Amino acid sequence: LFAGECEFIFGAQKLGQLPPQTLPEIAFAGRSNVGKSSLVNALTGRRTLARASSEPGRTRQLNFFNLANRLMLVDMPGYGYARVARSVKEDWQDMMFDYLRGRPVLRRVVVLLDARIELKAHDKEVMELLDRAAVSFQVVLTKCDDVAPTKLARKQAEVEAEIRTHPAAYPHLSLTSSQTGLGIEALRADLAEFAQP
Ligand code: GTP
Ligand code: MG
Repeated sequence: LFAGECEFIFGAQKLGQLPPQTLPEIAFAGRSNVGKSSLVNALTGRRTLARASSEPGRTRQLNFFNLANRLMLVDMPGYGYARVARSVKEDWQDMMFDYLRGRPVLRRVVVLLDARIELKAHDKEVMELLDRAAVSFQVVLTKCDDVAPTKLARKQAEVEAEIRTHPAAYPHLSLTSSQTGLGIEALRADLAEFAQP
């Protein structure tokens, strides 16, 4: 599935522009700069499919990637500290939240948390929104290559405790690095479950 064809099909800036719901969808959500676009690239084995950047606020629309006509990956704009006007940020956020709440083909949301950074109120809000909307989500720690093992273990325990408080969360926490490939194959296997035969 992930080794096969993968095609960028669409970037939506407004909810009215979303593509038709023909395939099951997996969306990637998380703070600006957490590594969403990099993770989409690592999963699909394409270095430049989704545009990644060290500058927060890189992804500015909902980008849809069709995997072999069996599954749609959706790279979302980040929430948090994108250096754009507040009104623009609020527009993105409204669109993101509306998309997450109201998309019947959305089968799972991958919520990314930076292994090096504290869990923020914004992250909890997104997980609570998914609980309320009863949208299944799974949490992934990103940039695990850049954290010392003891610190990573502490972070893992902290996030696992948080996950247990969310009814819509998949219980397993994935430790990943888009740079070293840590956890990528296992995450592919989790997500392949949602693909159309
Ligand atoms: P926005 O689109 O702005 O919301 O950001 P994003 O979440 O898509 O992040 P992006 O993938 O663009 O990556 C942000 C920065 O983090 C880039 O400089 C990446 O090189 C870096 N990065 C991403 N994944 C990893 C990783 O696994 N390890 C390390 N060390 N850095 C990473
Ligand atoms: Mg991005």
